Amino acid sequence: MKNKFSRFMGILCQPSIAVDLGTANTRIFCPEFGQIKEKPSLIRLTNDKRKKHVTDEYLSYLNSKMSFMPLRGGVIVDINNAIKLLRPLLKETRQGFRLPVSLASAPTDASDKEREFLAKAILNAGASHVAIIPEVWAAAIGAGMDITSPHAQVLIDIGEGVTDLAVIRDGRLIYTSAVRTACSDLQKAVRSAIVSRHKVYISDDEAERLTHIISSIAQEQLFNHKLITVIGNDILKGDKVTINVKEQDIINALEPVINKILKMIELNLRKLSMSISSEILESGICLSGGGACISGMNRLIALRTKLDVRIAPDPIHAVINGEIETLKFWQGHKNWWENIVWPRLLS
Ligand SMILES: Nc1ncnc2c1ncn2[C@@H]1O[C@H](COP(=O)(O)OP(=O)(O)OP(=O)(O)O)[C@@H](O)[C@H]1O
Ligand SMILES: [Mg+2]
Repeated sequence: MKNKFSRFMGILCQPSIAVDLGTANTRIFCPEFGQIKEKPSLIRLTNDKRKKHVTDEYLSYLNSKMSFMPLRGGVIVDINNAIKLLRPLLKETRQGFRLPVSLASAPTDASDKEREFLAKAILNAGASHVAIIPEVWAAAIGAGMDITSPHAQVLIDIGEGVTDLAVIRDGRLIYTSAVRTACSDLQKAVRSAIVSRHKVYISDDEAERLTHIISSIAQEQLFNHKLITVIGNDILKGDKVTINVKEQDIINALEPVINKILKMIELNLRKLSMSISSEILESGICLSGGGACISGMNRLIALRTKLDVRIAPDPIHAVINGEIETLKFWQGHKNWWENIVWPRLLS
């Protein structure tokens, strides 16, 4: 329990919070919570009462038709719903009369306008000031990388809507590149393959599960006849059905998307100078984001780049953990947010 003095200080001090507003998930950390609060980046229109009468798959279908995702490709596309999403979370972080100061992050390819939208959404949701850092920078810190090392290191964050690559050396981002293709595109590809072949709609969890078939691509099996059991809803009758799907069909659907991500990584790493490339040969690649959790993703990237690829500890929380570390670094600095400027990114 807080004593009177700390309550009094709480009212006087301006709290600092960390916000990771992702395409799929929003995470907020406030020292008062002592833990990360997380929720889907979704504004639902479906009536909760309906949940009792429908299957999970059908509810997922309803949600996909009757909900708003305020972000696409890692950036805000619907500012009003982004504010609606953030407001209750920020309200919980308020102490006394002081509005919190927020540290947030954006993909490296976010335009000035897109970062302005992010700042506006957080300010309108209840923050007094906002400072924005590149998401990959936060992810590298959250992944435990020594960002001050004089040897170049690579971090790749594969999220819901954006795959972001950064080369870090001497405490600076020396090269960045991003493509707005990531996990949502893999799941979309799987889903449409099953809808078009079997007329069955699958839930988000089922689509996520099927992306793990990427590990079969990584094993370079030439052709496989494996059948996998998939549960979904018949799109015409609405009934819950269990079907057998050819693994090869899923592989064929996933391959163009995965190739787009791999090509982006390969082409950008090829652009680096000889000296940086030789440093990266030693340090390898660190993977973060939900995409890092897909089985075989690290192996595929390693095969394509011929580099060691390791998965960050707690890859899903690398960005927010890095933001928390950044807040700790600035703790006690008056008006710390004024020291944070979006870096001049070389790409
Ligand atoms: N264990 C897992 N296996 C497969 N996919 C996973 C796993 N965990 C998370 N994902 C997928 O990762 C995606 C979410 O990743 P993440 O939380 O990094 O995205 P985000 O930060 O919201 O998006 P972005 O950074 O692109 O704006 C979802 O598509 C989710 O299905
Ligand atoms: Mg993210």
